[in-house]
Amino acid sequence: MSISSGPARIAELAGASRHLITSLQAPTGAYPASPTFSQYGYCWFRDGSFIADAAGRAGDRESATAFHRFCAKAIIDRAGRIEDLISRDGPVAAAEQLPTRVRLDGTDSTADGWWNFQLDGYGTWLWALQAHLTRYGLDGAEYRTAVELCVRYLARFWDTSCYDWWEEHVDRRHVSTLAALQAGMAAARTLPDLDEDIRRTAAHGETLIARRIADEGIADGHLIKWAGSTAVDASLLAAVAPFGVVPEAVAVTTVAAVERDLVAGGGVYRYLQDTFYGGGRWPLLAGFLGLAYLRLGRADDAGRQLEWIASTATPERYLPEQVSDLLLAPDRHQEWVDRWGTVATPLLWSHAMFLTLADELGVLERRTS
Ligand code: BGC
Repeated sequence: MSISSGPARIAELAGASRHLITSLQAPTGAYPASPTFSQYGYCWFRDGSFIADAAGRAGDRESATAFHRFCAKAIIDRAGRIEDLISRDGPVAAAEQLPTRVRLDGTDSTADGWWNFQLDGYGTWLWALQAHLTRYGLDGAEYRTAVELCVRYLARFWDTSCYDWWEEHVDRRHVSTLAALQAGMAAARTLPDLDEDIRRTAAHGETLIARRIADEGIADGHLIKWAGSTAVDASLLAAVAPFGVVPEAVAVTTVAAVERDLVAGGGVYRYLQDTFYGGGRWPLLAGFLGLAYLRLGRADDAGRQLEWIASTATPERYLPEQVSDLLLAPDRHQEWVDRWGTVATPLLWSHAMFLTLADELGVLERRTS
């Protein structure tokens, strides 16, 4: 695979990405989604798990460990609430569920009415934790209580509708959410020292979720945004890679559908009706497309995704949440600038996906000291 923009430029951006991630990490282990954007001074389980995975890949083991400890504490601190939620018979209101994002000290941020109920982050955390333990040969005993709570919570609520990756459509069953939950259950059941009941619970959950994706999550051979839709959403790429929860044929057709509907000039839109900041192309999604290409053996295409991500960096080597040329809904851009300020830059998750794709392409130099 050749990187035409030059290894030096990729290495510089990788170094800057690692520095941003580790220097912005709070003493608690939490990663803020973005240090400057008005709404993103919180830690998301979804963003943070991908960020920790990238840090671990880059050799920043202590940073990744600190994040996993932060998550385990956040879950254990909510043990009473989790037991209460699990014990209820009927439906539970979204506002009562576990948060998708917390303050950097681990406490709830529910007072501001964020679209907080998103299950995928808990599955992604289990997936990232297992990858971290395997990468560094750690036994994981210290995470056991948190993992057990998390598995039992997800086993109880995996088929509850919730907000998606984009914090929208709480009434839908999102296939990318199911994919993260399947990956989380699959990861959890392989952890050592787990109680056999919990291991069985995770394995059973994994089977049920896989069946649900096969039964309701596919149309015309590709994954769909939600049950009942025929459209794709770029978050579905994560099911292809890194989660790897769909068979080859579905992976090929899903990537083809995303290329057909959501790719322009190397960048990737979230979904066709997107109006957030006018609906631009997201570097982090270009990262997921690159990972999916690699799974399909398309290394040159994956290399082009890495280059496209690098092309979106500012002179300070910051990667944005989205780029605002080629907007899907240009007339909707300004209202978001007026509401929340300019697009979140840097976004740590964008830097994480750059590092992850660089690692998978074999062009990431690991830190050795
Ligand atoms: C995105 C989420 C993300 C959050 C923080 C939101 O705008 O929709 O996917 O977790 O920003 O980065």
